[in-house]
Amino acid sequence: MDSIHMYGGNFLRGEVKIQGSKNAVLPIMAAALLIKGTCVIKNCPRIADVYLMQNLLQELGCLVTWSENTVTIDASNVIDSAMSGESVSSMRSSVMLLGAMLGRIGEVFMAYPGGCVIGKRPIDLHLSALKEMGVEIMEQEHFFTAKVGRLKAMDYTLPFPSVGATENIILAAVLAEGTTTIRGAAKEPEITALCEFLRAAGADIEGAGEQTVVIKGVKELRETRYTVPGDRIVAGTYLIGALAAGGSIFLEKAPSEHMKALLKPAAQMGGTITINKGGVGIDVIRRLEAIPYLKTEVYDGFPTDLQSPIMAAMAVAHGDSVLEETIFENRFRIVDELRKMGADIRTEKNKAYISGIERLKGAVVEAEELRGGAALVVAGLEAEGETVIKNRHFIERGYEDICRDLRNLGADINIR
Ligand code: EPZ
Repeated sequence: MDSIHMYGGNFLRGEVKIQGSKNAVLPIMAAALLIKGTCVIKNCPRIADVYLMQNLLQELGCLVTWSENTVTIDASNVIDSAMSGESVSSMRSSVMLLGAMLGRIGEVFMAYPGGCVIGKRPIDLHLSALKEMGVEIMEQEHFFTAKVGRLKAMDYTLPFPSVGATENIILAAVLAEGTTTIRGAAKEPEITALCEFLRAAGADIEGAGEQTVVIKGVKELRETRYTVPGDRIVAGTYLIGALAAGGSIFLEKAPSEHMKALLKPAAQMGGTITINKGGVGIDVIRRLEAIPYLKTEVYDGFPTDLQSPIMAAMAVAHGDSVLEETIFENRFRIVDELRKMGADIRTEKNKAYISGIERLKGAVVEAEELRGGAALVVAGLEAEGETVIKNRHFIERGYEDICRDLRNLGADINIR
């Protein structure tokens, strides 16, 4: 039952509503810990990673309730500072609880976060920044403890614009003593969303989404409500799906202003893009053109989370494409799976050389992580015959219901 079965070749047609952003809502759920009361988060995607974060919050003493896509978190009583290794190591974003717990109760005991197989993913940047804020960190093999009286502000330059480290510093700084300045901060839209949520709760933050973020510590935060923006990576995946399969679709609530780095190569490949207040549309009526060179970068460059999906589209484009991955050291894991479908791809260090073929052929393939799994669905939309994608649970970590959404656009896809 953990497989997706699909037959490729159908043009995609119609509209699909884009779910709330996974990478925005996870740090926002952690931020709820900083509020001695209740917050209401709307447009929250019902995905596995959100449920994992919910488990962690409940372990710490929070009450979490749902009504459709609205989650209510009551963090009045945080009763524990330790989280079980299993919950923490099953999800990278558990590290967000570090900054939030230090801000809330000044101590935390946790395992090192796990996550996808796309790279080593250390948390050294998180820990060195928090040490600058006066946090004492005792590291053991699989666990560490972090303790602090009151977090103290700092003027800190991040050596690399890490999304997670930027978010953790912000979470630690909102209740800290004094004004914290982060230089070289990550500028991803998910960080802007986190800051919007915190400001709605009374935080004093300037420069969200810019390289320099200034956070003036406040005494406490207040209860609040927030609506999560649409998920630019889910929207991007479906847009690339239409590139590969052909057709005409509209992505309702897609955050077009955050998708520029994708819309440009999508137009180069032959898609006709329409943007309006309601979302993003794409029409694809002829065979795709290759992209001579595309590299992943921090925002607002081409997102690494769409690297695998666009590789699947490049596999059937007319001509040769080169993809360079600059963020994660092990994110070409789907190449072998695409080769099982007939793709002509070779890799050298962090570059992939893709020679487009007329058409992929269906095969039994395996998802090993979230975005790679979604990319195999993109390949299956285009492929001749049946494609079976095993380990769909990886895809459900970030896509609420990829089969439902694509079936609504005319794809022949279901789980079995
Ligand atoms: C966030 O991960 C996203 N996850 C990732 O999306 C995304 O790929 C990534 O940002 C880059 O855009 C969430 O928001 C939950 P980083 P994060 O810290 O915060 C290295 C998806 O598919 N690094 O910016 O972990 C790190 O190893 C996921 O939705 C250190 O060396 O990303 C990586 O090579 C996958 N030390 C690079 O920096 C550190 O302390 C970028 O990591 C921290 C990071």
